Amino acid sequence: MSKKTILALVGSLRAGSTNLQLAEAIALNAPDQVDVVIHENLGNIPFYNEDIDVEGQVPAAAAALRAAANDADTILLVTPEHNGTVPASLKNAIDWLSRPFGAGALSGKPTAVVGTAFGQFGGVWAQDEARKAVGIAGAQVLENVKLAVPGSMVRFAEIHPKDDAEVVEQIKGVFDALAEAPAAEAA
Ligand SMILES: Cc1cc2nc3c(=O)[nH]c(=O)nc-3n(C[C@H](O)[C@H](O)[C@H](O)COP(=O)(O)O)c2cc1C
Repeated sequence: MSKKTILALVGSLRAGSTNLQLAEAIALNAPDQVDVVIHENLGNIPFYNEDIDVEGQVPAAAAALRAAANDADTILLVTPEHNGTVPASLKNAIDWLSRPFGAGALSGKPTAVVGTAFGQFGGVWAQDEARKAVGIAGAQVLENVKLAVPGSMVRFAEIHPKDDAEVVEQIKGVFDALAEAPAAEAA
């Protein structure tokens, strides 16, 4: 069986991001038949603007994101919460992936949302908003995939999520849910 690729988009740009660490832990715990690729450089993608979304002239970082998403079997958003919603860098990536209208890389693409945030609910508002946005963009939202780890900066101050047994167990649940998800819809 050929390997499946999951493209992870991290909704935090900081070097010490706990969401980046969570994405790393997810990649480390992927089953043999799954590759998790963490996309770098969401911060280098210009704000979405139809004036610069011109065929043949799309900014390189946005084009690279679209190509990576097109190549992936599944998209996994790994995000904190910023003021109760999706961080701007991740929303910008979603906007780029939502165009061309009706034919963006998210069209029919199985897409799941997980993450960690400082608040007691682990960023579930941001996750719900991300699910709403990708769903409107045409993605096949994998509602059964859930992981929201509260207390991010404190919980992962001394320990990487890959070494947190409870989180590793929850990551296994994420892969179980992903395995049960229906195949991609025709775009
Ligand atoms: C601008 C900003 C807004 C934030 N708003 C929220 C929020 O609404 N809810 C929450 O749980 N945490 C909030 N936080 C805290 C983040 O969840 C926490 O810093 C998280 O660890 C950031 O993710 P990272 O470690 O991957 O960078 C906010 C942080 C920043 C910088």
